[in-house]
Amino acid sequence: MIKQSKIDRIILELEYAINTLHGNHKLEDSSKFTENSKDINRKDVKISQGIMRVNHMGEVCAQGLYRGQAAFTDDKKVREKLYEMCDEEREHLNMCKTRLDELSGKSSVFNGVWYASSFLLGVFAGVSKRQFGAGFIEETEKQVSTHLDQSIEKLPDSDKRSKEMLMHIKEDEEKHKTTAQKMGSEEIPEIMKNFMDKTSSLMKKITYYL
Ligand SMILES: [Fe+2]
Ligand SMILES: [Fe+2]
Repeated sequence: MIKQSKIDRIILELEYAINTLHGNHKLEDSSKFTENSKDINRKDVKISQGIMRVNHMGEVCAQGLYRGQAAFTDDKKVREKLYEMCDEEREHLNMCKTRLDELSGKSSVFNGVWYASSFLLGVFAGVSKRQFGAGFIEETEKQVSTHLDQSIEKLPDSDKRSKEMLMHIKEDEEKHKTTAQKMGSEEIPEIMKNFMDKTSSLMKKITYYL
């Protein structure tokens, strides 16, 4: 295997970030979900757009967080697991973007900022001790799971397709939580959990509209 220099790795991360933010993300096969209905009224479409924009932003952040952690952890096993999870999160990203496009919704104008801040949090998780690193993954997936429940609840009944997509994503996030537990995760400090919760709440509020 060719050894990558620091510059190579920085370029690779920048390319990955640009692709996450501006790539053409399309779900290859969405036939397992209820077909896209044209009968959703304008008010419901507006609600669905906001909710799917928030969930798309969440998947952008998941990419940033795990890429940042993978780039800075010196634990080979954790790094491999994080890259594996990034691939699975990629499907979520494609799913949310596909649905957002179908609803004629726009992705968040702040996604670049959200990605960068998540990457930094990932760096912090990467350089902290191994058990905390896995603890960050577990806490993230736990908070994402709760958020998904709230999103599914808030989606209008007329938008079955978005609901089914989020339910599918939730199943995967639950698996990620178990993966982190198996990695020997240690609970991260309460102050850190609160910080993650408060910042994500603020990000969600802004992203719902912008
Ligand atoms: Fe995800
Ligand atoms: Fe996940």
